[in-house]
Amino acid sequence: MKRVRQAVVGSVLLLLAGAGVVLESVHAQADSVLHRYVGVETCEVCHSAKRIGDQFDVWAKGPHARAYTDLSSPQAQAIAARLHVADPTRDGRCLSCHVTAYGKPLPEILSTFRRTDGVQCESCHGPGEDYSHFSVMISPAKSAAAGHLTPDEATCKTCHNPSSPTYRGFDYHAALREIAHPVPAEIKKETLELGGER
Ligand code: HEC
Ligand code: HEC
Ligand code: HEC
Ligand code: HEC
Repeated sequence: MKRVRQAVVGSVLLLLAGAGVVLESVHAQADSVLHRYVGVETCEVCHSAKRIGDQFDVWAKGPHARAYTDLSSPQAQAIAARLHVADPTRDGRCLSCHVTAYGKPLPEILSTFRRTDGVQCESCHGPGEDYSHFSVMISPAKSAAAGHLTPDEATCKTCHNPSSPTYRGFDYHAALREIAHPVPAEIKKETLELGGER
């Protein structure tokens, strides 16, 4: 399946290159087809280790982990009623920002993935099938080649924008501090050495 897709993408790229078309967006689309979503439990296996900073715990206690379950709250019901949305837990007008991989075709989603886990790691770091392996993860270059994305302000603003019914503005740096989940510096140095990149 993968090989067929790669071949198709490859020939499209050749055609476009001949026509002198900018290839950037085609690349981005090809990547999102080639890497599948695994769900937060796959990341949890390694990223709940205290030693590397327990990013899982920070996420689980933060706002994004409850993004889906909050769609059942009385406040969500009230917002939904105002917008004539019958069931916010099933309607794309809410799910598009309150879950990961909304609207992605089924072949891009592995059975370990659960929508009920809300806005998961892969909403910001990219679909993890191909980078969530130790030998890949310890190398930023290999991770990037396997579909790992480095999130920035634009990533946040795909959801934190005026289309959100509760939007109150968005201060990127303050928001980043609220969800900070760093890897301790000495561990970073150690793993980069292991990955051969320092
Ligand atoms: C464009 C993305 C987007 C859409 C669409 C969206 N939300 Fe949200 N929602 C957010 C974001 C981002 C937040 C965090 C607060 C903010 O900036 O709006 C949020 C927060 C919330 C909260 C938490 C309360 C709060 O004030 O923080 C509730 C409840 C909620 N949304 C319900 C809904 C419902 C119901 C719908 C569908 C009718 C919906 N949202 C559609 C992005 C979205
Ligand atoms: C809402 C977006 C978002 C979600 C969800 C998210 N992250 Fe991140 N993550 C970021 C951003 C942004 C950075 C870079 C922060 C910076 O530049 O200081 C980051 C950085 C990291 C880093 C590197 C930290 C460092 O010190 O270099 C790790 C590891 C990480 N995230 C793992 C995870 C895991 C595992 C999950 C899920 C349990 C997760 N993230 C969920 C946005 C997110
Ligand atoms: C896929 C959509 C999505 C993306 C991408 C996203 N967020 Fe959110 N974010 C939400 C939703 C939905 C909520 C509300 C969750 C709730 O309270 O139920 C939220 C809530 C928050 C909150 C809690 C405060 C508030 O405004 O309610 C912070 C802080 C936050 N996000 C930071 C970030 C940062 C920083 C990034 C980018 C690195 C980011 N988010 C990317 C959907 C997203
Ligand atoms: C087999 C263990 C393992 C799994 C599974 C795993 N990671 Fe990692 N990850 C690591 C290790 C080890 C590092 C290196 C820590 C460091 O030095 O930044 C890392 C680093 C990262 C970084 C920082 C990368 C950078 O270039 O700075 C992010 C972000 C990240 N992981 C996200 C994820 C996400 C999201 C998932 C799930 C889709 C995941 N990881 C699954 C072990 C794992």
